[in-house]
Amino acid sequence: MVSRVIPVKAFDLVLFGATGDLAQRKIWPGLFHRFVAGQFDEHSRILGVSRSDLDQAAFRKKVAKSIEDPKADKDLIEKFLEHVDYISIDATGERGWDALAQAVRPDTVRAFYLSVAPRFFGPIARRLEKFGIATPDSRIVVEKPFGHDLESAKTLNEELRACFQEHQIYRIDHYLGKETVQNLMALRFANSLFEPLWNSSQIDHVQITVAESLSVEGRGEYYDQSGAMRDMVQNHLMQLLCLTAMEPPSKFTPNAVRNEKLKVIEALEPVPPSDIARGQYRAFGEQGSYRDHSGNPDSTTESFIAMKVEVANWRWAGTPFYLRTGKCLRQRLSEIAVFFRNPPHMIFPGAETPQGNVLVIRLQPDEGMTLHTTIKDPGPGGMRLTEASLDMTFADSLKGSEQPQDAYERLIMDVIRGDQTLFMRGDEVESAWAWADPIIAGWTERKTKPQQYDVGSAGPEDALLLMHKDGRRWRSIGA
Ligand code: BG6
Repeated sequence: MVSRVIPVKAFDLVLFGATGDLAQRKIWPGLFHRFVAGQFDEHSRILGVSRSDLDQAAFRKKVAKSIEDPKADKDLIEKFLEHVDYISIDATGERGWDALAQAVRPDTVRAFYLSVAPRFFGPIARRLEKFGIATPDSRIVVEKPFGHDLESAKTLNEELRACFQEHQIYRIDHYLGKETVQNLMALRFANSLFEPLWNSSQIDHVQITVAESLSVEGRGEYYDQSGAMRDMVQNHLMQLLCLTAMEPPSKFTPNAVRNEKLKVIEALEPVPPSDIARGQYRAFGEQGSYRDHSGNPDSTTESFIAMKVEVANWRWAGTPFYLRTGKCLRQRLSEIAVFFRNPPHMIFPGAETPQGNVLVIRLQPDEGMTLHTTIKDPGPGGMRLTEASLDMTFADSLKGSEQPQDAYERLIMDVIRGDQTLFMRGDEVESAWAWADPIIAGWTERKTKPQQYDVGSAGPEDALLLMHKDGRRWRSIGA
């Protein structure tokens, strides 16, 4: 396979929150990788913005530190830093905005990346407009969390739309930038094999798992206000569900794709409490508990959630989607597993279908796909059946082509290209909150407490029961 890097036009990327955690972990390294890959036009610039009073040299030193790639050529880092400048700005005051207005150039793609808390979205957008920095062509990128509930999401949308039009607003859900997530669309819409099977007559159920082994230590204060439902389900898992369940769009354009995703969210049934299992990890050995990490000894916030979701439309009625995500689980593992129905009649006497056909799309680690099939157990002994799998690891299949990019790398380049396909539209986000809000409100009303689970386990007992009562089983999370 041939490596293909499509250069983007010259840009001025203004990065608010340029010294923050996300910028250091993801945005600067991502930009550097795209620079090394040759995707930058030589006239492109990144203007780092934050409140701190730093000079150019001190700022570039910080950026160099966040790239921290021992394999990177020092000269390349120096060359990259030549594209980087710094401006100190008071996001909610007047200081620094004139300097920014003078620094951005006409006839260059202009993008504002707000890697800051949502309360700054409105104030920054208003100042970009007031100081004449925002143009009708410029783009504004905002990070998650996009609101805390439907009302706050609506307010954020209004604040952004007061200064920018929807086609200029890029709401990031980094799961959409993951290689395998896009592969899911390729798998479904570039192959004819799966489409006739992709419905409730052929599919028994779907399991979507995003398991993490990390705790919430270090970000407990944020997380305790959020929980797994707001932090992961309303956005990342929702996007995975949408891409799995959506109808084929008529073309691969941002609005055609997002219209179809929106229809899935709008078709979601309310979820009754009996179809939800919430958990919170407890201390184990050296490892502290969720309550230690959140600094809230009485916390009733969930660090784990499993739920059964019904998509009420012709394609999916009768095929539940089980979602599951949590912290401090046995292993980091994200996958979508599509369980096909068993054969309607088994002709081999005494033979059970071991597992049936399951298509597993692995997001991480070890991106790839596995199709579990049933074959004859080789050798004598009659017609015994066993399971065999067709395995495809993308890294092996794509040897020789470019390494998959980090989600942020791709998404930032899409902003420069002006392609919104992998970004959430305002109505999509609002619709996802409209579905999530009553579920969360129900917990508060009923004062429900999450069930405790061990660090390093597969989650709380209730999650197993949720499946057992439907006569099904979760796929295992690690060995
Ligand atoms: C973030 C959540 O959006 O996604 C985190 O806030 C979570 O809690 C992270 O750990 C997971 O992302 P990834 O790419 O590591 O799966």
